This record gives sequence, C-alpha cells and structure tokens, in this order.
Amino acid sequence: MKMVFGIVLALSVSPAAAETLVERGAYLVNSVMVCHNCHTPRGPQGLDMSRALSGGQTFDEPAFKVTGSNITPDKDTGIGNWTDAELKHLLASGIRPNGTKVAPIMPTEFYTVLTARDLDALAAYLRSVPAVRHETPAPEYKIPLKPETPTYAGKQAAEAELADKLARGRYLLTIAHCLECHTPEGPSAVHDFAAASGKGGRTFKGPWGESISPNITPDPVAGLGQWSDDEIKRAITQGIARDGHKLKPPMAYAGYATMTAQDLDAIVAFLRTLPPRG
Ligand code: HEC
Ligand code: HEC
Repeated sequence: MKMVFGIVLALSVSPAAAETLVERGAYLVNSVMVCHNCHTPRGPQGLDMSRALSGGQTFDEPAFKVTGSNITPDKDTGIGNWTDAELKHLLASGIRPNGTKVAPIMPTEFYTVLTARDLDALAAYLRSVPAVRHETPAPEYKIPLKPETPTYAGKQAAEAELADKLARGRYLLTIAHCLECHTPEGPSAVHDFAAASGKGGRTFKGPWGESISPNITPDPVAGLGQWSDDEIKRAITQGIARDGHKLKPPMAYAGYATMTAQDLDAIVAFLRTLPPRG
C-alpha cells in the first residue's frame, strides 16, 4: 500500500513541490523577493555578497530614517534570537517580537499573501545563511504612518491556487513588490493604489543619479501595451529598455534574472491583465 502511494505521489508532484524548504526559501530571497536589494551592504562594485543580508541601505525620508536590518542568524546584531514564529509574524504583519512596527519600506503589506509553505521556506532559508556580525543604526520614526493596502495584497494565498498561471503571476508580482515602486505616491508618501496602480512616476535617487519608475500597465501609449513578451522579460531580467538603453537601479534586475522561465512567463502574462492607466 505504502509503496503504491509513494509512486503515485512521485508522479503527481511538480518539480517545484519537490524542492526542499531551504531551496524554496533561497529562491524566494534571491530571485523573486530580492531581499538583498535592501538588506545586503553595497560597495562601489554593487552588492557585497561576502556580507550578504547583514544590513543594507539607509532610507532617510520625512517620516522615518531606517536601515535595512541585519537578517542573518547573528545573535547580537541579527535575528539569531528570533523564533520561526516571530520571524513569520514579522514578514506577514510588519510587527517585531517587541511589538513595534517596521517602516513600510520593508514591503510587508505585500507579504500578507505569502502561503504558509513560503513563510516556512523563508524562515528555513534565513536560518541557514552564514551569521554575520554587523551592527546597523537604530530606526527613527518621526511621524505615525497611515496603513496602506496595496493592490493584489490581502489574505494569505493557498498553495493550490498557484497552479493556475495567472494566479501564480499575480502572487509573484505581489511578493516581488513590483507595484510598490511602480505606483506613484501622493502627499505624505502614501501610494495611490486605488487610482494609479502600476502607472509609475516614482523618483528614486542614489549613487546612480535619478531614475523614475515607468508605467507597467498594458496602456498602449504610456505603458507596455505594444511591447512583446520578450522585450518585457529583457527589461525585467537584464535591465534593457525597449529602445535598447540600459535601465538604472534600484530595480533588482540581476536577482529577477535567476527566476525560472515558468515564473517569468506567469508574471508577464499577469502584467498584461493589469487595468491600463494612461
Ligand atoms: C525595499 C526594501 C526591502 C526589501 C525588498 C526587504 N526589506 Fe526587510 N526591511 C527593510 C528595512 C528598511 C527594514 C527596517 C525597517 C525599520 O527599521 O523600521 C527591514 C526590516 C526587516 C526585518 C526586521 C528586522 C529587525 O531586526 O527588526 C526583517 C526580519 C526583514 N526585514 C526581512 C526581510 C526579508 C526576509 C526580505 C525578503 C523576503 C525583506 N526583508 C525584503 C527593507 C526591505
Ligand atoms: C525598487 C523599485 C522597483 C521594483 C521593486 C521594480 N521595479 Fe521595475 N523599474 C523601476 C525603475 C526605477 C525603472 C526605470 C529605470 C530607468 O528608467 O532607468 C523600472 C523599469 C521597469 C521596466 C521597464 C519599463 C520601461 O518603460 O522602460 C519594466 C518592464 C519593469 N520595471 C517591470 C517591473 C516588474 C515586473 C517588477 C516586479 C517583478 C518590477 N519592475 C520591480 C523600479 C522598480
């Protein structure tokens, strides 16, 4: 009986389901959710992977001044003393074990959809990375922030839903927080998700100078409506615009380049279903 069950199981699982939790977590952290973009220190050559996830960029905004935390298992300067339950709670709610809430630069409003298995995978992988001792500055919160509800965020997704290509694309686009950068902000840094999701127009300043997020809705003039699938994929994974010019940071092109072909297909298919915004 057991044997028969084992064979049936082996035939019915997809390659993705055969991954271990640590492998799935590595894929999410490195390729889809690109945690390094904010949590790994940057040197002149780009990300310093010898100190991966040990604390990154500082975001100095009118409402807060915060630094991408050390999320390695170092007990003194990282999250080595957190339990898995505490870590998963932080990811899906933004609330730390001590009850304080992280600034919304940490895109936890998008992580509410994470499946139970993906939360387990993230916790398993973060436990497995090398502990790096690196103290980051304490956060400063200047004014209380309005809670935001991003487009497509919401309740936890079920693993079974992700078998459908468009549902999978919506899930991946959400946890990759594409619409965080590609939706304009109104006064007091609140995104206009209701009227302008995907319309672009946010300005990002950094060592690269300045970049402005473009419209990624299917609008034929302002957005991606006339782009081919391959052109969209090239922009996401190689940072090359339709006319061939090189796109600037902070979009994590190199991280997205290691997504599976299937997941990239799903994201592009779902992008084509966003409401067009001219
Ligand atoms: C867009 C930038 C950004 C991305 C992407 C991002 N984070 Fe963060 N994260 C931050 C910032 C900034 C903070 C600190 C916020 C604060 O102090 O209020 C933070 C805080 C955290 C904390 C709380 C740590 C502590 O000591 O309080 C954890 C855990 C965390 N992030 C994990 C992750 C993981 C895992 C990923 C990827 C799945 C991720 N983050 C993706 C910016 C980001
Ligand atoms: C951290 C912010 C950020 C995130 C996250 C982000 N992007 Fe971008 N993206 C940008 C910026 C800024 C540019 C424009 C760069 C430039 O013009 O040099 C851009 C460019 C693009 C382009 C090229 C469009 C054009 O008209 O040239 C596409 C397509 C795109 N992003 C799609 C996505 C998708 C899909 C995701 C999620 C998988 C995503 N982006 C995540 C900031 C971001």
